[in-house]
Amino acid sequence: MKKSVAIVFGGQSSEHEVSLQSARNVINAIDRNTYYVTLIGIDKQGHWLRFDERDYLQNANDPAHIRLSDSGRLLSLLPGSQGPQFVEVETGLEVPRIDVVFPLIHGSTGEDGALQGLLRLLDIPCVGPDVLGSAVCMDKDVTKRLLRDAGIAVAPFAVLHRGDSVDFLSVSAQLGLPLFVKPASQGSSVGVSKVTDEASYAAALKLAFDYDHKVLIEQGIVGREVECAVLGNAAPTVSVCGEVVANDDFYAYDTKYLNDGQARIAIPADLPLDLSDEVREVALQAYRVLGCAGLSRVDFFVTEAREIIINEVNTLPGFTSISMYPKLWQASGLSYPELIDRLIGLALERAEDMRALKTEVVL
Ligand SMILES: Nc1ncnc2c1ncn2[C@@H]1O[C@H](COP(=O)(O)OP(=O)(O)O)[C@@H](O)[C@H]1O
Ligand SMILES: [Mg+2]
Repeated sequence: MKKSVAIVFGGQSSEHEVSLQSARNVINAIDRNTYYVTLIGIDKQGHWLRFDERDYLQNANDPAHIRLSDSGRLLSLLPGSQGPQFVEVETGLEVPRIDVVFPLIHGSTGEDGALQGLLRLLDIPCVGPDVLGSAVCMDKDVTKRLLRDAGIAVAPFAVLHRGDSVDFLSVSAQLGLPLFVKPASQGSSVGVSKVTDEASYAAALKLAFDYDHKVLIEQGIVGREVECAVLGNAAPTVSVCGEVVANDDFYAYDTKYLNDGQARIAIPADLPLDLSDEVREVALQAYRVLGCAGLSRVDFFVTEAREIIINEVNTLPGFTSISMYPKLWQASGLSYPELIDRLIGLALERAEDMRALKTEVVL
């Protein structure tokens, strides 16, 4: 039977525009013979709005100016409902029951477990990791501590909470130069700086604290940036490795989303076979350690000395036309529409597994 999928996009994070681009790609590719599609856009104020497909974006072809259209109809949510989970506020119109949500909201509130928790309360299966895996991977400090605990290498780092201070001399003596300073819970390189001296250190901390109350200072790793796509629940599979070759100083926001030409993606990454197999194995280990399900993209540095260091794990990676995650699967033999289908299937499978658990104490 045809399933009803709600694609949820936009959101209040700094990655709102990226999300719109991802959503557009999925909406264009999803198989209409298998799925009914409902579009739900979340605006920058946090309103949930239902859109018609013919008019949900403005400036759709311009990544710098893409935005939600003004035609969205405000939704109200109905936790606990056995029937429709959403109604349109103004007309009272019920949205036909949604079987599964495909969230395409990057960054905070979409990727950090908040949306996943809300959907759990609405009893709607959701593509991607659940509350815990999402929350863990959103926080680079927690992610790295769990990985380290499992014996997986991460860049040495220090953590600052707002109000803490560590002077440049001691942190650079401990971690070396350059340093990378980044908000604990951002994405798309927002608020990330490379630090080479005392002046840039102060500016980097100020910028990172504009975006988060917790900031990481990391040892700069000299290595290639290699990424793997992981897909699955209990028995996940891993794609070939890809490599990001940034022409800039590092893989910054505009490189990722605005300027197609700046970063080159090499798929498969030009690595010796045994090394890429090792990277893929570590990706699977990390996926399990961090409680991921559905999908995640695991990002590495691979050094000249063949050290394999995890940089971060993204639980809802970009799905734009230049995004690594779908491209990695394409190169591994899974087309974009097939990938969408698999992801939705995995979300439904996991919801079934949850329902199979006892929720009452049997005496
Ligand atoms: N410790 C590090 N050593 C070297 N480069 C780094 C380090 N941390 C971040 N970078 C560079 O900055 C980019 C963005 O940092 P990242 O931690 O991946 O943040 P985001 O979650 O915003 O993608 C990376 O892709 C890489 O180019
Ligand atoms: Mg990154």
